[in-house]
Amino acid sequence: MNEALLSVSRLAKSFQSGVEQIPVLSDISLALAAGESLALMGRSGSGKSTLLNLLCGLELPDSGTISIAGNVFDSGLTSNGHSGERRWADLRRQHLGVVFQEANLMPAMSLLDNVRLRAKLAGKDESACATWLDRLAIGSLADRYPDQVSGGQRQRAALAMVFAMEPALILADEPTGSLDRLTADEVADELFRLQSDFGCGLILATHDAELAARCDQRLDLAHRASS
Ligand SMILES: Nc1ncnc2c1ncn2[C@@H]1O[C@H](COP(=O)(O)OP(=O)(O)O)[C@@H](O)[C@H]1O
Ligand SMILES: [Mg+2]
Repeated sequence: MNEALLSVSRLAKSFQSGVEQIPVLSDISLALAAGESLALMGRSGSGKSTLLNLLCGLELPDSGTISIAGNVFDSGLTSNGHSGERRWADLRRQHLGVVFQEANLMPAMSLLDNVRLRAKLAGKDESACATWLDRLAIGSLADRYPDQVSGGQRQRAALAMVFAMEPALILADEPTGSLDRLTADEVADELFRLQSDFGCGLILATHDAELAARCDQRLDLAHRASS
């Protein structure tokens, strides 16, 4: 049996609104093996982005445990102090590829330099970066700046950045949500193709049922919230 790349046990998260505590996620458990994909579904406000933020340490759970590639985190970050924050930061830099709805590129750097920077921060081979742009069919745009290419091309560059860091797990938050249908399908095809070639895990937040159907597992947060 494949050992779990990611395992999440009984995760809960609420936010404070005035004096009220608003529960967003409760009793979330899941397991993902390397090479597997999971679609995180649910209507707007159901907690998809919150769960992704918990899985990369940008939010802390109220309770529950997250284990990623043998690194175990619980809700006790405050008691662990800075060591917990540093462990999350190291994990994000080296092993977690995060993709957002809008590509998060440095505007004053070329596409290639953006990819190189990401590889360098992860301690990975910078000489392979041009090849990642080629594999995403934007090799000819390597010297362009982000504002000189289309939204779909920027999102391809964001994927090149993620794969150049050789991630163990990709966390993608509606990565095709701002693209037209045709471009969205092309970018999604690249994401699934490279994820499968590369053998990393993928968690994909989406409201798109077609996209979700391509994943190995599904977790429907809206269904959980209303049940
Ligand atoms: N930092 C925050 N403070 C207070 N409430 C938040 C915060 N982040 C998210 N929420 C609330 O949590 C719920 C889930 O939000 P989110 O995870 O962004 O949903 P989704 O990504 O599925 O649209 C929403 O009701 C949102 O208003
Ligand atoms: Mg969201």
